[in-house]
Amino acid sequence: MKHVFSGAALATALVLSAGTASATVKIGFMLPYSGTYAKLGQAIENGFKLYVKEQGGKLAGQDIEYFKVDDESNPSKGPENANRLIKRDHVDILVGTVHSGVAMALAKAAKDSDTTLIIPNAGADAITGPLCSKNIFRSSFSNWQPGYAMGGVAAKKGYKTAVTITWNYAAGKESTDGFKESFEKNGGKVVKHLTLPFPNVEFQPLLTEIAAIKPDVVFTFFAGGGAVKFVKDYAASGLRKTVPLLASGFLTDGILEAEGDAAQGLLTTLHYADGLNTPRDNAFRADYTKNFPELPPDVYAVQGYDAAQILAAGLNAVKGDVTKKTAMRAAMSGATIDSPRGTFKLSKAGNPIQDFYLREAKGDKNVSIGIAVKALADPARGCKL
Ligand code: BEZ
Repeated sequence: MKHVFSGAALATALVLSAGTASATVKIGFMLPYSGTYAKLGQAIENGFKLYVKEQGGKLAGQDIEYFKVDDESNPSKGPENANRLIKRDHVDILVGTVHSGVAMALAKAAKDSDTTLIIPNAGADAITGPLCSKNIFRSSFSNWQPGYAMGGVAAKKGYKTAVTITWNYAAGKESTDGFKESFEKNGGKVVKHLTLPFPNVEFQPLLTEIAAIKPDVVFTFFAGGGAVKFVKDYAASGLRKTVPLLASGFLTDGILEAEGDAAQGLLTTLHYADGLNTPRDNAFRADYTKNFPELPPDVYAVQGYDAAQILAAGLNAVKGDVTKKTAMRAAMSGATIDSPRGTFKLSKAGNPIQDFYLREAKGDKNVSIGIAVKALADPARGCKL
C-alpha cells in the first residue's frame, strides 16, 4: 500500500518517530549459561525479567526485547560474543556478565561502541577503576569490597596469620587483595597466597599445603560449582577442626543446599543475606519464589533485579527514548535504587555504595548476623571521571 502524507501529517509522523526513537528497547544478555557459573547467569536473567514483569512487562512504556549469548565464562571468546549483541543484534543496552575476565572484554566493546552496559555481577576492579566510563554501571560489587569487609572481621576476631586460596584470575586476586589490605591494616599478616587456574577444582595439594603452614585462618574466593566442591573438600580434609575458613559470600550464596553439612557455620561477607526480613526483601523473595520455584532468591537474582531497576531509572528520565544517552546515563548514575539488599546509590565510578553483611550458614540460609562494614564504597583507584 502506498502512503501519501499531507505536509502536516508528514510533520506529525516525523515528530512522533523522533520522540520514540525505538518502540522496543533491545536488551542483550551476555551471561554464562553453561559451565561452573551457569546457575549464576540464569539467576541474573530471572531477576532482571522479574523486575520488568512487575512493571507490567514494559519499562518507561516501552516493550522489551531480549537477546542472549552464552559467554561460557570464557574470556578469549569475550570480544566475539560482545560483538554478536552489539553488531549483529544491534542491542540498545548490554547486561553482562558474571566472570571478571569476560567482563573486561565486554566493557571494552561497550566503550568502543558507546553502548550502555550494566554489569550484574563481575567485580573486576579495573572496570570501576582505571577503565571507568560514563556508559558503564554495576548493580553488583567490586571484587575488592567483600574481601575488604572480611579482612576487618578476621582481625577483630584476633587472627594474626592467614592463608588465601582462590582461582588465579581477577576475581580471586582482587578479593584476596581486598582481604589482605584490611587484615594487614588491622595487625594481621597474609603469609601465603595459594592459587589454581580457573575453573579447576583439584584442591587437594593446596589443602595439604595449608595443613603444613597451620595459619590462624584461611580466606577464600570461589563461586558456583567450584565453590560447592571446595567447601566439601575443605570439610573432608578435616581442616575445619583446626583452621577456620572465612570467605566472600559467593562461597555459599545460592548453593547451601548442595553444600549440605560441609558448609554449616561458615562465616562470609556479602552485600546480601537471607533473613533480612524487610518489607522490600520479603516482597522480592515471595515474587521470585512464585516465578522461579526451582531456584533460591540469591545474590545473583538480586543483582539482576537491580540491573533492571538502574535501567528503569534511566529510561523513565528520557520517557523511553534510548537515543538520549547522556540524559539517560545521568539519571542512571544519580538514581537511588530500592534494592532487596537495602537502598543504595552508585559511586561516581558507577559501583554500588552498600552495606556488607556478616553472614553465618545455617541450614539452607546465609543468615545475617550483623553489618561488617556500613556503606562501603570501592576506592575506584585510577578512575578519572
Ligand atoms: C567474577 O568473576 O567477578 C565473579 C564470579 C562469580 C562470583 C563473583 C565474582
